[in-house]
Amino acid sequence: MGLLFKARKRAEEADLSALPRHIAIIMDGNGRWAKKRGLPRTAGHAAGAETFRRVATWCKDVGLEYLTVYAFSTENWKRPREEIEAIMGLLDKYLLEAIGRMERDRVRMRFFGDTSVLSPRLRELIEKTAEISTHFEGCQVNICLNYGGRDEIVRAARAYAEDFKKGAADDLNEELFESYLYSAGVPDPDLIIRPSGEYRLSNFLMWQSAYSELYVTDVLWPDFDQNEMKRAIAAYQRRNRRYGGI
Ligand code: FPP
Repeated sequence: MGLLFKARKRAEEADLSALPRHIAIIMDGNGRWAKKRGLPRTAGHAAGAETFRRVATWCKDVGLEYLTVYAFSTENWKRPREEIEAIMGLLDKYLLEAIGRMERDRVRMRFFGDTSVLSPRLRELIEKTAEISTHFEGCQVNICLNYGGRDEIVRAARAYAEDFKKGAADDLNEELFESYLYSAGVPDPDLIIRPSGEYRLSNFLMWQSAYSELYVTDVLWPDFDQNEMKRAIAAYQRRNRRYGGI
């Protein structure tokens, strides 16, 4: 009881008038959530996708500028085919739904990752959401799909080298390099949230996370809600960000 009360109070401590600009989330724990309930892993992903929708809607409602989520990594192809198909099916379903609501919700969407290897249908939905997103301003949700932080850096290095060879790029510095990343133009995440208790980045936003504050909680992603978001924000607001200074 005592602990529960404490946690609830901490959620209330979040100052929603001073939000971080950019929150990134590693949506982990879907499999464990399903296992605990004797359900197939795919049921965990379905619950996780619902959580994504709830959390993204909350972020938009409170006025967050950028939300980035890790939906599928370059390493996730190692999973069983049925599981991969289930995740792709969920993306299909939620993108289709998002397309129908984007104008009303004023949520922009962008995709980080190599989407060229996805199914033609998913690619079409991705292009459509990206196109609609150019028409308005509002909360921007970045979905990392077939994304790997190292892969992103190698691709950026290759693209820069190509431009340099053609005489189309100046000498390299951090700012110029960033313009070759999937995240070009998006501020670095202020806060990275990892549910499910694992203390690692798992190849997520390797370049962009240099000064991000990390928040890990044991709550599994499907159980995440707006109170968990507020707890993470409250913890972030207690941090003292120094960026290497004193
Ligand atoms: C990690 O949990 C989760 C994933 C690899 C998939 C995340 C995908 C979704 C939430 C669904 C689709 C997304 C959107 C944006 C609609 P895990 O399976 O590694 O969990 P475990 O570590 O407990 O096994």
